Amino acid sequence: MNKKILNLLIELEEFGKLNFMFNVPRETGELLNLLVKIKKPKKILEIGMSNGYSTIWLAEPGFPVISIEADPKKIILAKENLKKANLKNIKILQGFALDILKNIKEKFDFVFIDATKKEYLDYFKLLKLNKSAIVVADNIISHNILHYHEFVNKKYKSCLIKIGSGIEVTSID
Ligand SMILES: C[S@@+](CC[C@H](N)C(=O)[O-])C[C@H]1O[C@@H](n2cnc3c(N)ncnc32)[C@H](O)[C@@H]1O
Repeated sequence: MNKKILNLLIELEEFGKLNFMFNVPRETGELLNLLVKIKKPKKILEIGMSNGYSTIWLAEPGFPVISIEADPKKIILAKENLKKANLKNIKILQGFALDILKNIKEKFDFVFIDATKKEYLDYFKLLKLNKSAIVVADNIISHNILHYHEFVNKKYKSCLIKIGSGIEVTSID
């Protein structure tokens, strides 16, 4: 991680707290970054981009990212932040995740879910995933998203990691 991007992330952490961007905590960002570096996915999907804080952690290793965000004001901020980070291989899809996921043709190797909590399982069921894909979902503990947790644990290898707001990491085999 270069110093320019790290400084930007620190700046965004302050901005996010003051302006209700609901960004993931730093430790979750660090884990996302590490998982992407290990997995080396051909294509990453993010559901819930906000102003691009988690997108920067996901995109920094250099693999292509598609990110979904409903709020056009947040997309403007995200574009500015991605430009500042000099990260280019990111396509933003504006709209509601359920609508977009129904029409998306691509398959993904790595997905990060962080949008409307009660829709997590619906997002998951609409995903087109490559074999051995990894799906990470935030706020499992903070928002008590038990139906998602139980579903992925019954069907796949999955682990609830108790950092930040509680993230579920699921491996699709
Ligand atoms: C918790 S924030 C995401 C924070 C971001 N992942 C980060 O850590 O920087 C959730 C975002 O999802 C967006 N969102 C919520 N429901 C959505 C939906 N159904 N479709 C698309 N975006 C949605 C919100 O506008 C908000 O910006």
